[in-house]
Amino acid sequence: MPLRIDDARMMAAVVPSGLTPAEWNDLAIRFGEVHATVAADRAAGRYGFLALEAQADEFKRVREFAARLPVPYTDVVVLGIGGSALGAIALRTALGTYGDVPRLHVVDNVDPGTFAALRERLAMDRTLWCVISKSGSTVETLAQYALVRAWLKHGGLAVTKHVVIVTDPSAGPLRAIATRDGIPAFSVPPNVGGRFSVLTPVGTLPAALARYDADALLAGAHAMRDRCDTHTLSENPAGLLATLLWRAHQRAGQGTHVMMPYSDALQAIAPWFVQLWGESLGKRDADGLPAGPTPIAARGATDQHSLLQLLMEGPADKVVAFVRVGAHPVDITVPADGDLPEAADFMRGRTLGTLLDAEADATARALVSAGRPSLTITVDRADARGLGELMMCLMIATVYAGALYRVNPLDQPGVEIGKRLARESLARPQ
Ligand code: PA5
Repeated sequence: MPLRIDDARMMAAVVPSGLTPAEWNDLAIRFGEVHATVAADRAAGRYGFLALEAQADEFKRVREFAARLPVPYTDVVVLGIGGSALGAIALRTALGTYGDVPRLHVVDNVDPGTFAALRERLAMDRTLWCVISKSGSTVETLAQYALVRAWLKHGGLAVTKHVVIVTDPSAGPLRAIATRDGIPAFSVPPNVGGRFSVLTPVGTLPAALARYDADALLAGAHAMRDRCDTHTLSENPAGLLATLLWRAHQRAGQGTHVMMPYSDALQAIAPWFVQLWGESLGKRDADGLPAGPTPIAARGATDQHSLLQLLMEGPADKVVAFVRVGAHPVDITVPADGDLPEAADFMRGRTLGTLLDAEADATARALVSAGRPSLTITVDRADARGLGELMMCLMIATVYAGALYRVNPLDQPGVEIGKRLARESLARPQ
């Protein structure tokens, strides 16, 4: 079954701040307008992440590269940050298996402790470094790259066999380095921004190198994109998500959007979504006023013992978006004759998957009892196809939300200022 969204707990019939049938009609009309605007911008080439067909040749190169590696690598390390790393982390969390070779690592920070510890554990002659930066000029990634380059030189290893670059097709320092040294390189289309780039080589290269099913990932994304071609709100999953969350913010003051997967495989979707939703929508609107929701990443059932108290009785400014799987790929039964005290006796012979699902239901019902709204996104499985559907749904929802909030979802002027100030402070004489 394809991805589905259960929005019953966003409705006035269930929670006091919910949507009334009359409001639904207004929203459906509003969404029709938003859909038309986004469709026109898409036709003008604004949303490169939707143009999956344009990626076909580059994806073929990715697959060929992954199939003909010059060295039997045991480790593949992604060096990148923000949109150049969070997608790969989400893919690895969902699709990686303990004991996989090559192991996929993503180093998305410049903490020296983390980097040094990883370096200690790696065999340099069996490691491939994927240096990923759309702009090719992000200082964190360039500093990591310079270190790796020095380590390779020290070990007498060829940079062309141990580094692969993903960056802009023609611009930026990383592209220049790749061209100068003949380092294998893949392109991020100029009209695909970092946080929308997981379906380009930014995500598909690490996926292919780690032997995940990148074809299924793209097929899931493709199917979702086509589903979202409709202007009918009830049939457009991304439209539904964007419109309901935007309306909760604007009409009910619920501008904090908590994404809470009840699946460890899908848990890294939450930080990926936090970047997508926060960096795309948190900015000045068309009138120059500060706009945008505040996304939060949570994890079920773990955060029932952490954030749930806040969600239940703290400020009524939140909507929880649960993410669930239709079926757990594996399940484990608690022994009927196990050592269970009376307090957990009901778990005899029940599975952990059943417990996790029951907790997700119970949390949603608990929120209703406190008058708090939630919605549930369900993918059949946390596999490559399910992930493709989910990620595409969330990216399209972000673009719709950009139109609803009247912000440009594709830029990040605030981030750029931070980058500039960091550069300036490091450039001062020591
Ligand atoms: O979404 C974005 O554009 C950012 O989060 C970037 O991904 C991040 O700043 C890294 O940029 P780059 O890929 O150019 O190194």
